[in-house]
Amino acid sequence: MVNKRLINEMGSAKKYIFVNVFFQWLSLLLNITAISRLTSYIQAVYYGNTGYDGLVRVVAVVAVCMAARYLFTIRASRAGFRSGEKVKQTLREKIYKKLLSLGPSYGESVKTAQLVQIAVEGVDQLDTYFSAYLPRLFYAMASPLTLFLVIGWIDISVAVVLLICVPLIPVSIVAVQRWAKKLLSKYWGQYTDMGDTFLENLQGMTTLKIYGADEMKNQEMNRQAEKFRKITMRVLTMQLNSISVMDLVAYGGATTGVILALKSYFAGNITLAGCLMIILLSAEFFIPMRQLGSFFHIAMNGMAAADKIFDFLDVTVSGRGEKGNYPSGADIVFHDVSFSYGDRKILKDINMTFAKNSLTAIVGTSGSGKSTIASLIMGRNKSYSGQITAGGKNFKDIDEGQIFENITYVSHGDYIFKGTIRDNLAMAANELTEKQMFDVLKSVNLMEIVDGEKGLDTPIDERGENLSGGQRQRLALARAILHDSPVYIFDEATSNIDVESENIIMEHIFRLAKEKTVILISHRLANVVGADRIYTLEDGRISQCGTHISLLNTRGVYSRLFNSQSALENYCL
Ligand SMILES: Nc1ncnc2c1ncn2[C@@H]1O[C@H](COP(=O)(O)OP(=O)(O)OP(=O)(O)O)[C@@H](O)[C@H]1O
Ligand SMILES: [Mg+2]
Repeated sequence: MVNKRLINEMGSAKKYIFVNVFFQWLSLLLNITAISRLTSYIQAVYYGNTGYDGLVRVVAVVAVCMAARYLFTIRASRAGFRSGEKVKQTLREKIYKKLLSLGPSYGESVKTAQLVQIAVEGVDQLDTYFSAYLPRLFYAMASPLTLFLVIGWIDISVAVVLLICVPLIPVSIVAVQRWAKKLLSKYWGQYTDMGDTFLENLQGMTTLKIYGADEMKNQEMNRQAEKFRKITMRVLTMQLNSISVMDLVAYGGATTGVILALKSYFAGNITLAGCLMIILLSAEFFIPMRQLGSFFHIAMNGMAAADKIFDFLDVTVSGRGEKGNYPSGADIVFHDVSFSYGDRKILKDINMTFAKNSLTAIVGTSGSGKSTIASLIMGRNKSYSGQITAGGKNFKDIDEGQIFENITYVSHGDYIFKGTIRDNLAMAANELTEKQMFDVLKSVNLMEIVDGEKGLDTPIDERGENLSGGQRQRLALARAILHDSPVYIFDEATSNIDVESENIIMEHIFRLAKEKTVILISHRLANVVGADRIYTLEDGRISQCGTHISLLNTRGVYSRLFNSQSALENYCL
């Protein structure tokens, strides 16, 4: 029931556990002293050889012992609190650092809801493990041994019987442990699944309402909650049953001690004071183990949480170690890159080059893998085979911060933050001037939102909900342009924008491509006509590559898509 790794990784929390146990042990010594004085006094009273002085002395000793015990108990619980605090801090720091080291690809290893649960609830469980369970565990070992010496000094045979009974409690604990471990692991699994569903349904509440699917989801969540209730009940039943067994052993053991002490006294082997002392201390023999038993379930829960936490902390970060800088101004090259989501192969032996100072377009039907290519470049997915390089340097050896600094990914779903227009633009670069902000807003045809009195300080609601879809997208574009990085990926970045603004923005993107590496993913082939190179993606494979003219002259997916789109656009006109 001691997780060595957990203890080893908790550094200075160990010290507080020791302090906690030490003060509990000192309290026990004081208890023994008080009981010993009390029983001697009772014996003296019984035999009539004490007076008023004796009473004063015994009351004084007991009072001092109790006062000191009170202080030691406070010290012990303070140390317990400190160890818990330390553990929480250490673990949360480790989880946070791990998350940072995984970077944007963390989603490959853990679900967000699960991560939140282990970092909050899971870590809290371990707080109890360290602040309450572990000190009790060590004290539950130190206490019977100390009492064995004291009682053994009075009557060794009683002490031996009591000492033999004590391990029955941990034996009963071990007996349920295997079963409990499986049950608790299942319990945690269901708990995190439930959290996951809850988070998703909450985020998609509006959609659920629109489609009237909220009732169906409600029932689904009820079913999940019912399953969770059942497993919680099973956990509680298991806890209650094992506590009953432990009670039986503890009280049975204490009763045995009392009977043996009385027998020994009537046989004339021990004094009255000795007999009373054994009677009063025999319960003490079992109390710490018994208390440990009730904390054992918390500990089991903590250990199950620890397993989940360590599973996360053990996720290997590909290409660990010192990572290098992004080689600015270099071509980005895919060498035989393949990628799968689970068993589904999405990208197959992709070879492509995104040359500097040029615009490379990727086109293809929906679901052909265009955005996946972008997510591989941005490091959101790392479990691909083959290589992606920039200037010959493997992307996996480049620092993640460097990637974000040098490559700007703009999609139609970019996040607009609550605050002001200025706040949303200012995050793109340090020390931006108002002129730079206005210029870029003009270039994306967005002056209308800063026309009012407040100008750049016009407030923006959460997710930019007080802007239209097109305005949100243009604001995200403006922010991206201000980021001024050597590489840009535009993934359907103009999909929500009116044709007039789209043309203005496309002009801007083409201007950008004169001095930067620009990757343009677009459904609208009219936008890629001027691209320096166009790749067509079909079912995860590059099927064609060339300029607009060359591709149009070759019969294939590009000319087919282009002609059908032009026909449609002309028809609409
Ligand atoms: N997180 C994911 N888990 C599993 N499969 C995914 C995931 N994201 C995308 N896919 C699958 O990968 C395939 C490629 O998706 P991708 O988003 O790259 O397509 P796309 O070409 O960008 O499509 P669109 O033009 O509609 O944006 C799709 O079939 C999709 O179902
Ligand atoms: Mg896409």
